[in-house]
Amino acid sequence: MNNKKIIVGISGGIAAYKAAELVRLFIKAGADIEVAMTQNATRFVTATTFEALSGNKVISDMFQHEGPDLEHITWAQGSDLIIIAPATANIIAKIAHGIGDDFLSTLLFAATARILVCPAMNSQMYLNPAVQNNLRLLSQRGITVMDPTQGVLACKTEGPGRLPDPEDIFELASALISKQDLAGLQVMISAGPTIEPIDPVRYITNRSSGKMGYALARAARQRGATVTLISGPTNLRPPTGVSFNSVKTAEEMRQAIMKYHHACDIIIKAAAVADYKVDQIAREKIKKAGNDLTLKLIKNPDILAQLGAEKKKYKYILVGFAAETQNLLQNAQNKLIDKNLDIIVANDVSRDDAGFDTDNNKIKMIFKDGREEDSPLIPKDQVANLILDRIKGLLDKRNAG
Ligand code: PMT
Repeated sequence: MNNKKIIVGISGGIAAYKAAELVRLFIKAGADIEVAMTQNATRFVTATTFEALSGNKVISDMFQHEGPDLEHITWAQGSDLIIIAPATANIIAKIAHGIGDDFLSTLLFAATARILVCPAMNSQMYLNPAVQNNLRLLSQRGITVMDPTQGVLACKTEGPGRLPDPEDIFELASALISKQDLAGLQVMISAGPTIEPIDPVRYITNRSSGKMGYALARAARQRGATVTLISGPTNLRPPTGVSFNSVKTAEEMRQAIMKYHHACDIIIKAAAVADYKVDQIAREKIKKAGNDLTLKLIKNPDILAQLGAEKKKYKYILVGFAAETQNLLQNAQNKLIDKNLDIIVANDVSRDDAGFDTDNNKIKMIFKDGREEDSPLIPKDQVANLILDRIKGLLDKRNAG
């Protein structure tokens, strides 16, 4: 999102308050946001909220600023994307029939960027044939219309008409302005920890939050890939548009992965898989007795090594991760060779600011041909795109040669 200029247009519906969270998500991702509000929108939320969030002036009146600037033109033509959220029946009708009677509707005439319209209104209004016809007109003109979700609406009725969650709008918007260089590719990503039960109430696990793997799944989806995400238990919500498989143990993860691996072009194993599991899982809760308790652990299957062994047959690009607290380079190089990988992404998990359960990461990529590349400490979404760039490079090279 860095250097992307996005206009958020807000029209006058009760869901206007959700636009504040949407703007916050874009700002967090590094976008430059300008907000245009209709007069009615300012009855639901104030321009001050959006000026504080975006750091830019908000325009709600065509003539509010004196001077020669034709802001409806400069804004419209200098942006990468225009999102109308929420879009009322009124603004939808204005866009469909070419009515420009305020700043927001007028700037849309001059737009050269992609437009995303997110309708939100009472279900009856939404299903009204006039609104539906207008939405069809927008789609026919290449405007992206995001369907509203179902649920209890502000008017206490239930049905379609809710503004989708800001996270979902953000993800669709991100995909609209992302390069689609992974379109047509099948990508599988594993994420999060595994848990290995000891008894009905206890288990062994690790500190993986899933953030790195989910960032990879989100980025691959936004770049057009068909994504399968195999995830151990996390608190994260799966990215929109990915096929999601939830697993607990290493064995469950292995089985899920082996269901799909033959059809994949790219497999990335960001999950932190338990190397060992408890030999005999107690059927009942283990009672406290004596001063010590011995658990016998036995080896789990090495999923990545199995994928490496079958790589020649299925021809996927295989990327592993290595979480290390010492000898980062040497240990990662050994895993690259032992597991027959194309790239290994090494994480120094002794750092507090990278690796497990952080929003940022700093990685060292080691390639099969011996090349190495270090990233700076950057958000995991950016790390994900960097890894995907390098994988795409390998695929392009393979296809060219
Ligand atoms: O989830 P986050 O909080 O965002 O943190 C991200 C991360 C630090 C967990 C992640 O980036 C990472 O480093 N994941 C790999 C952690 C790990 O298990 O490393 P490892 O060195 O033990 O395993 C090496 C590779 O073999 C990994 O790709 C792992 O998925 C795979 N493996 C390991 C054991 C096993 N039985 N089967 C496997 O497939």
